Amino acid sequence: MNVEQVIQCRQLSRSFGSLQAVDHLNLSIPKQSIYGFLGPNGSGKSTTMRMLCGLLTPSSGQVEVLGLEIPRQAEQLKHQIGYMAQKFALYDDLTVAENLSFMAKAYNLPGKTQAQRIAETLSRYALQPLQKQMTGTLSGGQKQRLSLAAATLHKPKLLFLDEPTSGVDPQSRRNFWESLFELVNDGVTILVSTHYMDEAERCHGLAILDHGVKVADESPANLIAQIDASVFQIEGTSIMPLKHQLATSPEVLSMMQLGERLRVLLSKKIANPQDYLQRLLAPIDQSLRITPITASIEDVFVMATLHRQPMPPAEKSVTTNASHFQ
Ligand SMILES: Nc1ncnc2c1ncn2[C@@H]1O[C@H](COP(=O)(O)OP(=O)(O)OP(=O)(O)O)[C@@H](O)[C@H]1O
Ligand SMILES: [Mg+2]
Repeated sequence: MNVEQVIQCRQLSRSFGSLQAVDHLNLSIPKQSIYGFLGPNGSGKSTTMRMLCGLLTPSSGQVEVLGLEIPRQAEQLKHQIGYMAQKFALYDDLTVAENLSFMAKAYNLPGKTQAQRIAETLSRYALQPLQKQMTGTLSGGQKQRLSLAAATLHKPKLLFLDEPTSGVDPQSRRNFWESLFELVNDGVTILVSTHYMDEAERCHGLAILDHGVKVADESPANLIAQIDASVFQIEGTSIMPLKHQLATSPEVLSMMQLGERLRVLLSKKIANPQDYLQRLLAPIDQSLRITPITASIEDVFVMATLHRQPMPPAEKSVTTNASHFQ
């Protein structure tokens, strides 16, 4: 099947002084899909999005978005895309309706259609009851809905959403993602960055960035199936001694404490990983329980970003969630 590619870039790079923020990135994003960017802080997600939108000039590389050469044809692209910046970008001292009206003018929507589009959009994003409220007084979730409404007011074919749901409660995030799938159903393509693993898992395709380099690019299901680690849950009478013992093994790639359990990623180099863990930990804890479990997207993320930041065994436990309490 010949799927139309909405975004294609080759060897896209951007440096700021001596910092290589985006490093020879190749991307191919198919039409009518949700494509996610996952990566640690500073890995180049926002910088890449801004270059793809035509807001930032690349240092080198080729970019084609909706058949336009970027940045050369950025002006033509402007009205075909919606962009939701990482930071809330609407006016706090305008009402909800006034902000949408302002955006309608900024998008050059014809006068006749403006009122109709605003009414449709207010309804679609459940903003009608809030239309006269000052934007600065909206809750976080309401602000995200308004931002999405503003970014889609002109019916763009392509949406760039930079961490659109950060700080939003789980139910509001779910509703937000339902809106994204509805947009995709209408033919829209979405590029979204996130730090939420559940959101990453909902994308059709997912690129993991680390220090400006793409370290993985697949469907979430394939990434999970292809993970280069064995994953185990470990329970015992006392977690802390187990953690210290695990930290001595170079084959233990990561561990995370979840209450009284440990989630451990073990190198695939170990032929019989369960036996290996049993032999390593049995002298420490007699009532040990080691259970193989399915990998998650978070495990994939940890593995994908591990190689470029090798951590000495002694520091491994610092990567655990519970490390602050040690
Ligand atoms: N205008 C700029 N001038 C100098 N450095 C910049 C500029 N914009 C971004 N950077 C640097 O480029 C790197 C990538 O930043 P970017 O904002 O793209 O990361 P990110 O993946 O979006 O991070 P986050 O998850 O925190 O939003 C960072 O080290 C950042 O400090
Ligand atoms: Mg960012």
